Amino acid sequence: MFSLMSPTSLLVETPDRIAVARHYVMCPPDYFDVQYAINAWMDPGIPVDRGLAAAQWNGLRDAYLGLGHRVSLLEPLSGLPDMVFTANGATIVDGVAYEARFRHPERAPETLAHRAWLAGGVARAVQASAVNEGEGDFLVTERCILAGTGFRTEPAAHREVQELFGRPVVSLQLVDPRFYHLDTAIAVLDDGRASDRPDIAYFPGAFTPEGRAALTGLFPDALAVGEEDAAVLGLNAVGDGRNVVLPVQAGGLVADLRERGYHPVLVDTSELAKAGGGPKCCTLEVREPLSR
Ligand code: ARG
Repeated sequence: MFSLMSPTSLLVETPDRIAVARHYVMCPPDYFDVQYAINAWMDPGIPVDRGLAAAQWNGLRDAYLGLGHRVSLLEPLSGLPDMVFTANGATIVDGVAYEARFRHPERAPETLAHRAWLAGGVARAVQASAVNEGEGDFLVTERCILAGTGFRTEPAAHREVQELFGRPVVSLQLVDPRFYHLDTAIAVLDDGRASDRPDIAYFPGAFTPEGRAALTGLFPDALAVGEEDAAVLGLNAVGDGRNVVLPVQAGGLVADLRERGYHPVLVDTSELAKAGGGPKCCTLEVREPLSR
């Protein structure tokens, strides 16, 4: 990964990183709230400042626009307080959308909202027959799709995704309730679209020994992140191959990311963290057909 520029200067050469323009789907937090507890972060007794949530969400959207990405909006619906977390609504690869099938009934209607949006023509929607929470548990790279299970998504959905998208799916068991979706424990820094070298950051403590072995086998250069940064949702980050949008609370990652040639973009999503979500949870990627 690193090479010495000359044996005497000991300067470390950082790799050149290339950003690939993305198309994201976001949903404004108009009805955001913590009304039920379906993960370890949520406490309905703690009030939510919806105005602050909206300001933070706007900051995230503006960060994407500033990086040159396209952001489409899903219309928020009252009664669906978690709808801001669009990542959970589907997994979209090559213009095909594998729909979510939520674990908890509170979120089930979100699938219909995503389906209606997809019917606009951006991707062909395919209904899932197994419980899965979209990009919350499916992290797409050019080489493989990393798939989480243990809290939300069922292994049967991993098999369905492998068949549907024709990319190898690597099943990873999550073991720590703070990291209940895979996108809280792994960040795809570079999906390999521009570099042909997918790159991830992950928190080893969220996985079984088998899962850790699979990750080090597939990504020997992966950035292993410490508990302090992972526990503030630092891995709920969105990488485009060069820029990495991540929570400002995970400042410990900034130097590591820079050293690897990335450009960290810090955003504050503290209000959304009351529901267990960060930047990635608020972001669903539309991978269009023939995008490469
Ligand atoms: N409160 C939501 C839930 O528990 C948070 C979802 C976060 N989304 C994610 N992609 N990790 O379902």
